[in-house]
Amino acid sequence: MVEFSPYAYEFHEDPYPIYRLLREEAPVYHNEKMDFWAISRHADVLAAFKDPKRFSNSHGVSIDPTARGPGARAGTSFLGMDPPEHTRFRSIVARTFTPRRVAALEPRIRELTVGTLDRLVGVGDFDVIQDFAGILPMAVISEMLGVPEADRDELRAWADLLVHREEGVLDVPPQGFVAFGKMRKYFGELIARLRSDPGEDLLSSLVVQDGRKDALSDDDLLSFCNLMVVAGNETTTKLLGNTLYWLWRNPGQRALVQNDFSLIPASVEETLRYDNSTQALMRLTLEEVEIAGTTIPEGQHVLLLVGSANRDPEVFEHPEIFEIDRDTTEMLSFGRGTHFCMGASLARLEARVALEEWWKRFPDYEIEEESIERVHSVNVRGFASLPVRV
Ligand code: HEM
Repeated sequence: MVEFSPYAYEFHEDPYPIYRLLREEAPVYHNEKMDFWAISRHADVLAAFKDPKRFSNSHGVSIDPTARGPGARAGTSFLGMDPPEHTRFRSIVARTFTPRRVAALEPRIRELTVGTLDRLVGVGDFDVIQDFAGILPMAVISEMLGVPEADRDELRAWADLLVHREEGVLDVPPQGFVAFGKMRKYFGELIARLRSDPGEDLLSSLVVQDGRKDALSDDDLLSFCNLMVVAGNETTTKLLGNTLYWLWRNPGQRALVQNDFSLIPASVEETLRYDNSTQALMRLTLEEVEIAGTTIPEGQHVLLLVGSANRDPEVFEHPEIFEIDRDTTEMLSFGRGTHFCMGASLARLEARVALEEWWKRFPDYEIEEESIERVHSVNVRGFASLPVRV
């Protein structure tokens, strides 16, 4: 019998053998004690993503017992809504979160990257996460939300506390709640400031839609800020760390990138497929659903195991091999359908620019494998600490 707990440290170390067992032996897995189901085959995960009428986001996307439930949207904003409410909210945000606004960020992203990396030239040993990958995504989100530079480290520390889980803790820990409260208070004050003194940033343009009938309320704006920090920060930090790690572990693939920087985006895409920073999203069944001969009743929490779908041999040949020139279009790393990641092009832009500047400076980096530390989280996968020698 397959045993699967998304809280187990052993699972965080290497989830892929467990995913394989689930796909082969328990594609519709039920954990009665922890009260959740999990689907692991690509076809089933894809079908659930495309079926918001039966697989609802209204209880949030995390299985943490206190985070899931009808109150989830305070922290998840429109990610925790279903159509038509979701459609309305997302389209208001989409008016300002435009491809043009994202593309226009490139020079600033490069400037932030260069500033961060130049400080590390000549240092010799440093931590990819603490000194580089953990800084850039929060800096970019902060630019979008109009957060001053002086406040960014604190914001990042709160965001980290939200996702971290000590071994054996099967829920949001008290420090996570405290951090959540502090973040809401911080953004409440920021929104009030932007109302009287708006800037050029995305949050300001949402705040000044005020006069419109379909504008967002203060509560809406607060939970949107929270969503941006949680969705856009950890995920992109982990993507940068994971890409550098897997290239280092695969010297043949690394040599390809070293010789031709135009392959950087391909190395990012394969990392998204091979070891995505978002491993699982939860749904609530709104009616009875049958999958592969098993019936999941109405009102159940189901984990969509994206990390497993991306390694399904039915879709990807030799899925356990890291190959940057493979076709990754079927990967589910940014979700599909209604809730498809709103920041996907931003994440790709950040990763390309950050890694272009990285490779120019540190083509010969070596990872100190024995000192690596993983984050322990129910749905985010990547490193808390990734020490390198350059
Ligand atoms: C490697 C980086 C990233 C990954 C792997 C990722 C992954 C995802 C996934 C899988 C979803 C769908 C959730 C669901 O179906 O329940 C999602 C939604 C979302 N993401 Fe991302 N994301 C990344 C970066 C970003 C960034 C940089 C931002 C913004 C700055 C962002 C903003 C959002 C938002 C707003 C949603 C909610 C969309 C909706 O509910 O309609 N993400 N992301």
